[in-house]
Amino acid sequence: MANVPVHLAIILDGNGRWAKKKGLPRNAGHVQGAHVLEDMCEIVWNKGIKYLTVYAFSSENWKRPSDEVALLMKLLRDYMKNSVKRAMKNNMRVRVIGDKNGLDEDLRVSIAELEDATKGNTGLNFTIALNYGGRDEIVRAVRKLSSEHDAEFMKNLSEDDLASALDTSGMPDPDLLIRTCGEERISNFLLWQISYSEFYFADCAWPDFNEAELDKALESYSSRTRRFGGLVKGEE
Ligand code: FPP
Repeated sequence: MANVPVHLAIILDGNGRWAKKKGLPRNAGHVQGAHVLEDMCEIVWNKGIKYLTVYAFSSENWKRPSDEVALLMKLLRDYMKNSVKRAMKNNMRVRVIGDKNGLDEDLRVSIAELEDATKGNTGLNFTIALNYGGRDEIVRAVRKLSSEHDAEFMKNLSEDDLASALDTSGMPDPDLLIRTCGEERISNFLLWQISYSEFYFADCAWPDFNEAELDKALESYSSRTRRFGGLVKGEE
């Protein structure tokens, strides 16, 4: 397919509704969602996409019922511990963005081990947003910069300076953002980075997302003209 995004970001939505529709507990939707995500990493790489970033747990998701939070943390723990082999086989680099200080110590250790084990891999750059909020990321970046630099530097702060202090430092901005299950909002995801991203809203719930659904999003993306605030040839 022509014109594939370099960086695809996905808001994984609808796990709970998918489960409810099937008469299952909400947690069953998250379990299925995690399986779909693992397969999707391979599918997107085969399409030529180099970066995949997903919203797995927002800084606001702690407000959910405690059994649901516990299950999501278990899935994430299991993923960090059990996916090294598959990541190495697929040459995939895994990173986590978000406020890691808010996570349990053992989860932080597993994340560090997975990030370290896969840091030399040159295939898909897979990034999991965990305890992540876009506003929080920007505030943490400003605090980090102001703790490292003097007032003169902060007075002249540039966009590049700020971008380099974000969790996504060094990564290209997303070209395409997909949100599943019909909702059309951003929910505090990658606020800085999606300034010029194209958006695609899929009707199906995340656990039903598959290669055919991805192809529909990629077809829509490839038909769009990106202007980044300027004009394209023929419009001048
Ligand atoms: C949104 O559905 C989904 C989430 C809050 C969690 C997404 C997490 C996973 C798919 C699994 C964990 C990830 C990894 C990397 C193993 P929702 O619960 O908001 O659905 P609803 O809007 O229908 O209630």
